[in-house]
Amino acid sequence: MLHPHPNPPSPTLTTLPSKIDPLGYGRVAIVTGCASGIGLAVTQLLLAHQFRVCGLDAAAFFDYALLQAEADHGRFHFHCGDLGREGVCEEGVRICRAVFGDRVDVLVNVAGVMDDFSSADGVSDEVWERVMAVNLTAPVKMMRAVLPGMRERRDGVVVNVASTAAASGAVAGVAYTASKHGLVGATKNVAWRFRNDGIRCNAVLPGAIDSAIGKTIASGHNKLWDSPDQAGPAQSSSSSQEAAPSPGESAPLPGAPAPVAPGRSITALEVARTIVFLISDQARTISGVCLPVDRACGVA
Ligand SMILES: NC(=O)c1ccc[n+]([C@@H]2O[C@H](COP(=O)([O-])OP(=O)(O)OC[C@H]3O[C@@H](n4cnc5c(N)ncnc54)[C@H](O)[C@@H]3O)[C@@H](O)[C@H]2O)c1
Repeated sequence: MLHPHPNPPSPTLTTLPSKIDPLGYGRVAIVTGCASGIGLAVTQLLLAHQFRVCGLDAAAFFDYALLQAEADHGRFHFHCGDLGREGVCEEGVRICRAVFGDRVDVLVNVAGVMDDFSSADGVSDEVWERVMAVNLTAPVKMMRAVLPGMRERRDGVVVNVASTAAASGAVAGVAYTASKHGLVGATKNVAWRFRNDGIRCNAVLPGAIDSAIGKTIASGHNKLWDSPDQAGPAQSSSSSQEAAPSPGESAPLPGAPAPVAPGRSITALEVARTIVFLISDQARTISGVCLPVDRACGVA
């Protein structure tokens, strides 16, 4: 007799590799947006896989207690900076090289900000420019800074965190949607242009997860900008308040599909696992892929 498939329990951040894994030995990764949500989970997982990790984030500090093992501390360096500002991406890569040796094997572009759900007839210059700067320009600048070294060594992996909004017009406002569509375009272009240089570049398209941005997407309101108090502890003032539109501009998206089916939420760790798979040698023939991590919600 067939039984309905039970909703499996979501893994938590405690379910990390229990045995030494050689994936990251001798390798250096940069993770943007490392202080919270998906970026934090990627950082934790890469450290568990023995990578040395340089984490970049606009958050003023990184809570080292969030790292699983004290042994990870020596392989982690945090650098605070707003990647939407001139020169900060390049500075982050320079600092990573200075701390961990002159190499970057892996780049994971996670940092991102939500918009205020405004449409093309109402988006302010401020919101458009800020969202594009953080979600699209910064990842491209990060790739620009690491690609020459990867090309020289004929080895490198980039994973860009896009969104369901990179494939749908019904998930967010025009700025966020355009920035994530743009990031997918940049991903494909890098994958194609560097396909013969030993470099792979992929994107993941998560549905709404349980994080500051996820709650915003799921609710159809920009809570981050409506009420900065509700932003998570690592939500920087730069990402949550600088481009704040007037609260009245936020509105639920009419008819927008639920980014994830109710009761089937996705965790940051599940997205991070997909990213680590794309980084791993098991994915060595995969490049230019834009992989949904949304329990099939994108095909509804
Ligand atoms: N949460 C979701 O449901 C969801 C869904 C699809 C895609 N995404 C994407 O995943 C990525 C991570 O989202 P999350 O849910 O982990 O969000 P989050 O808010 O928990 O984490 C984002 C991190 O990026 C940092 N950041 C923001 N702006 C920055 C800047 N200018 N410079 C440096 N750091 C900056 C923040 O300080 C924060 O630590 C984003 O790109 C987001 O668009 C999230």
